[in-house]
Amino acid sequence: MMMQRSYIAGSGSYLPARRVTNQELSETVDTTDEWIVSRTGIRSRHIAADGELTSDLAYEAAIRALEHAQTDVDDLDLIIVATTTPDQTFPATATKVQARLNMRHGAAFDVQAVCSGFIYALSVGDNFIRAGQAKTVLVIGAETFSRILDWEDRSTCVLFGDGAGAVVLKVDPENSAGSGANARGILSTHLHSDGRYNELLYVDGGPSSTQTTGHVRMVGKEVFRHAVTNLAAVVDEALDANDLGRPDLNWLVPHQANKRILDSTAKKLGMSEDQIVVTVDRHANTSAASIPLALDEAVKDGRIQAGQLILLEAMGGGLTWGASLVRW
Ligand code: ACO
Repeated sequence: MMMQRSYIAGSGSYLPARRVTNQELSETVDTTDEWIVSRTGIRSRHIAADGELTSDLAYEAAIRALEHAQTDVDDLDLIIVATTTPDQTFPATATKVQARLNMRHGAAFDVQAVCSGFIYALSVGDNFIRAGQAKTVLVIGAETFSRILDWEDRSTCVLFGDGAGAVVLKVDPENSAGSGANARGILSTHLHSDGRYNELLYVDGGPSSTQTTGHVRMVGKEVFRHAVTNLAAVVDEALDANDLGRPDLNWLVPHQANKRILDSTAKKLGMSEDQIVVTVDRHANTSAASIPLALDEAVKDGRIQAGQLILLEAMGGGLTWGASLVRW
């Protein structure tokens, strides 16, 4: 039996209304616009309003993606939400989105891989379609990361923001996985983790350990070092798996943690700056939401065109990292 390839039929995204500049942050945190911009490229971020939950952001991104993909809720088989900041410890935030969409069939669950969450969720959705277990999957990355920040810790609180992005994955009736790298769809996904590095990036709480939510802790310099090495390796792995080379790439849509990491990855790939989709300057690091937010921006403003080769990649807590190649 020939496995069916999935393709991205549409995308959507949502940012909370409140935009917080570095200047505004520096009124309450011991930092400066100059420090944040020079180390990270971040100029502002969006912060969810009181009472605005991850599921609210996810729902807003979802309805925009469904509309863009001209897909009815009745056609969805599965909802996957990648998030590190669920509304509740359980049930899954995906089930809350399912309820808001008035969807009473199929299944909904969350995936937890921190900043790599969207790549993980995309991989799961793609594999459900390849295996013939689903035809249409809504994949969402959504975070209210501001809720797990220690606002007294200037080395982390300036780096993150809130938001959500979503894509609708569909089985491609015209193409099969055997159609080669020139046919549209998700060509491959590649996931990795190495649990030995837990202490480089983690939250110091949880239901089983402290019965609290906890706050983000990060050894920034070490994470940076691992990010540059791991991302370069997984990008080559994805290209090799499809007999493609670096010059074949049209767009890099990376997880948006730090402009210096993006520049370093692009340089290693021999890509020019204007081939990287950058949102970190306006969104900061929105964890699992950052790739679908960036992808949606570049699709809607016409940069990404049919037939082009797109590389998605991310690294985050775990450590986890991964990549996906997509023929648009
Ligand atoms: N404002 C002003 N000064 C600051 C701030 C701030 N917001 N934060 C730290 N500093 C100071 C430090 O106290 C330190 O001062 P000192 O030299 O007097 O001790 C100095 O700046 C340098 O700090 P470093 O941490 O060494 O700065 P670095 O150049 O490494 O940049 C950064 C820090 C931006 C965090 C960087 O290491 C980084 O981007 N790391 C990677 C983050 C990442 O990729 N995360 C991935 C995924 S995130 C996820 O999965 C949730």
